[in-house]
Amino acid sequence: MEELTALLHSSRRIVAFTGAGISTESGIPDFRSPGGVWTRYDPRDFTFDRYVASADVRERAWRMRREFSDAGYRPNAAHRALARLEEAGRLRGVVTQNIDGLHQLAGSSRVVEIHGTAREVMCIGAAPRAGMPAGCGFTAAHEWAIARVDDGDPDPSCPDCGGLVKSSTVSFGQVLAPDVLEDASLLAESADLMVAVGSSLVVRPAADLPLAAVQNGSRLVIVNDEPTPLDDAADLVLRGRAGEVLGPAVEELLGP
Ligand code: APR
Repeated sequence: MEELTALLHSSRRIVAFTGAGISTESGIPDFRSPGGVWTRYDPRDFTFDRYVASADVRERAWRMRREFSDAGYRPNAAHRALARLEEAGRLRGVVTQNIDGLHQLAGSSRVVEIHGTAREVMCIGAAPRAGMPAGCGFTAAHEWAIARVDDGDPDPSCPDCGGLVKSSTVSFGQVLAPDVLEDASLLAESADLMVAVGSSLVVRPAADLPLAAVQNGSRLVIVNDEPTPLDDAADLVLRGRAGEVLGPAVEELLGP
């Protein structure tokens, strides 16, 4: 903890890179831990092309999203610690793989959501191909789609063009938005300290971002409760729970 606080203290351009593990203390399961989402659902069911091809897959996806939206998840101490670092002018932004919007709810203002967000839905067009959304531009709050499902429409379609509607997340087999990935890369490459929190760091191209920071001279801290493939590249690895590590470290640095 002393080493972490010293690194935070001596850094002026901190960038955080977060994964599902930063939200488990808010009650949201991660993907690859025991009991995680991919231990209960088959990720192959959630590829972009299967979603486009199958009304049954879309109906199951809306049912799963409805469960997610009912829960009213709240940010935890780790999200709040990163928001405090940004407010204090020490942290430039967060690059997150998460789609839960909890960084913004905690007060973070610069958040790059490289896997999109579940808090919004979008038109992806009638028959998009090769993982590329081809919608008419319609977007709405997630609640709009859930209201349609509750009114008995299991597979809401675009009110403007009749195309398919999907949450604004990046599914397996879907291309990441080039402008978002560029924004994330620029942020990562500007860091003098990259803090990777709660990610197994196995999904590309996301997991390349902490390495890009290190290649640009940044120091790297990994806060994760199990080993990751980047541990050897890190200046400091803290094996522990995100909220219990970041909360006290930021309080040590910025006061209670
Ligand atoms: N504190 C610290 N680490 C935690 C905590 C916690 N409270 N809870 C879980 N972890 C760790 C787990 O040990 C695991 O290594 O967080 C990591 C979460 O890894 P994943 O479940 O693989 O989640 P993530 O890295 O975000 O997955 C990346 O994969 O399925 C895709 O698009 C999805 O964005 C996701 C991407």
